[in-house]
Amino acid sequence: MCGIVGYIGPEEALPVLMNGLKRLEYRGYDSAGVATIDGGLTIGKKVGKVTELEKLIAANPPGGTIGIGHTRWATHGEPNDINAHPHTDQFGEIALIHNGIIENYATIKKTLESDGYTFRTQTDTEVLVQLIRAFYDKGNSLERAFRLALKSVVGTYGVAMISTIEPDRIYAARNGSPLAIGIGDGEYILASDASAIVQHTRHVTYLTDGEMAILERDKYTTKTIDDIPVTKEIEEITFDIGELEKGGYEHFMLKEIFEQPDTIRNAMRGRLQRDESTVRLGGLRTVTEKLRDARRIIIVACGTSWHSALVGEYMFEQLAGIPTEVEYASEFRYRDPVIFKDDLVIAISQSGETADTLAALREAKRRGATAIGIVNVVGSTIARETEAGVYAHAGPEIGVASTKAFTSQLMVLALMTVKLARMRRMGAAEGAQILKAFEELPAKIEETLAHAEQVRAIAHTYAGARNFLYLGRGYNFPVALEGALKLKEISYIHAEGYPAAEMKHGPIALIDENMPVVFVAPDDDIYEKVISNIQEVRARSGRVIAIATEGDERIESLAEHVIYVPRTLPFLAPILNVLPLQLLSYYIAVERGCNVDQPRNLAKSVTVE
Ligand code: F6R
Repeated sequence: MCGIVGYIGPEEALPVLMNGLKRLEYRGYDSAGVATIDGGLTIGKKVGKVTELEKLIAANPPGGTIGIGHTRWATHGEPNDINAHPHTDQFGEIALIHNGIIENYATIKKTLESDGYTFRTQTDTEVLVQLIRAFYDKGNSLERAFRLALKSVVGTYGVAMISTIEPDRIYAARNGSPLAIGIGDGEYILASDASAIVQHTRHVTYLTDGEMAILERDKYTTKTIDDIPVTKEIEEITFDIGELEKGGYEHFMLKEIFEQPDTIRNAMRGRLQRDESTVRLGGLRTVTEKLRDARRIIIVACGTSWHSALVGEYMFEQLAGIPTEVEYASEFRYRDPVIFKDDLVIAISQSGETADTLAALREAKRRGATAIGIVNVVGSTIARETEAGVYAHAGPEIGVASTKAFTSQLMVLALMTVKLARMRRMGAAEGAQILKAFEELPAKIEETLAHAEQVRAIAHTYAGARNFLYLGRGYNFPVALEGALKLKEISYIHAEGYPAAEMKHGPIALIDENMPVVFVAPDDDIYEKVISNIQEVRARSGRVIAIATEGDERIESLAEHVIYVPRTLPFLAPILNVLPLQLLSYYIAVERGCNVDQPRNLAKSVTVE
């Protein structure tokens, strides 16, 4: 949610900034802007995608070897040229970019206005830069003005600032919105995440809340915004630049869908302990006893990660016998949840930065629970704030609609389930059988994805539909929810996911000959029940698309379209069943001419509440 990039070094800043903005564009694409210093301050900003900014500045590119850039996901003020970042103080000497929300901006603005400061935009960010100016005007150094302003604001921020007052410094600070500093050879690159840094250096350090950095030509300094020096650990970026490219695919989303045989392999790699028919999860070593003794699991997550949490609930209860609750992270923290010391709270997040999930996690920790994470982005805030955790290892996910991260989360939940179950009540024989099923998954994913052309043809038939219903039961109810979410997100078709048996309590009223109904109907112990639900839809002329188990010929007489998926253990079936639904939403969106990788109004990493 908003991407920030900054550069100071021997090279021209602009190409580094533009490249960084393209890498970070998935975080927001309402507008983009850059500021550089080359004698004076030059600013270019434009509503729309980074390519619009590129066109704007092509004739007169801002020069200089220091600069900042921003790609915006609008909160305060509509997306337009004026509200685009960077924002400046009224004398045009300080430029600031910001990711987050300044909650008390209106009060500060009023005070500043009465002191004679004038504003050009509706943004909270302009208030912050003017506040820095106001502190500077009172005789403080620029650094002190920066710190005093940040201490006066309530809310969240990742900010970067340059100024002609000190033309060889970038100031940056974070509270709630991520910031990483790439430490290169004689240069520093600041960014919201490592994807904008890896091209320049693998050495990176992450600011934590309440910290700031000053990047200069020959050194960088880190401290708290209370001016207490902080020594930061330097970490290694673990992914390769190639993972940030489309690799010959038309869209990142399609590439990420087809990466799933590998990403599932990566989620398992080194974790299957065949000699003991269990799973080894190094990141949970420090909490082994707490895992064994936990009386309840609470999973907090948002969006797609919440759907994987729902599958996890079924897994933990059915196989490990542990009572499990799943909470929308955004609701959890505000409803005074009852948490016991022997509760295990799991936060699931692809980005590791989702503000709601982070807040829920902090709340759980505050109330004394053991908090662990299932996170994809290495080094992200949730990964660092949990006591222990398991990385999903899906690699960078650039498409805004989550695909491979979802199945990797499911895989990690399945691994954790086996670990917990083997510590509690599952015998070695069952453990061994499950491990074998794990190992067979990548090939089965490949087999499922081989049906892409069939799914594309179905997408062609239904691309004009105005509504869709997705139905499933048990482990596949969350799959239905996920299928509906994917379609909504990228094709803007209204879609609802429902437990199949609930349909008769309301949604059945929607069914007529124009309603496509996607049934996730594997051949498991509730198969017959789902077949009855299919009959009910057919009786009302609904158009049935079924995701079914290979070899199930009976369903062909009931559904207009059947997409077959190989058989696996029921608790692993969601990993396969969701694949045709990802493809269906993808091909429908392409058919409708939608921007698949950057759907309207969305952003990949939701760092505001
Ligand atoms: C859906 C999607 C979102 C995210 C949600 C949580 O395709 O991408 O619903 O799943 O914003 O994000 P993370 O997992 O990063 O916490």
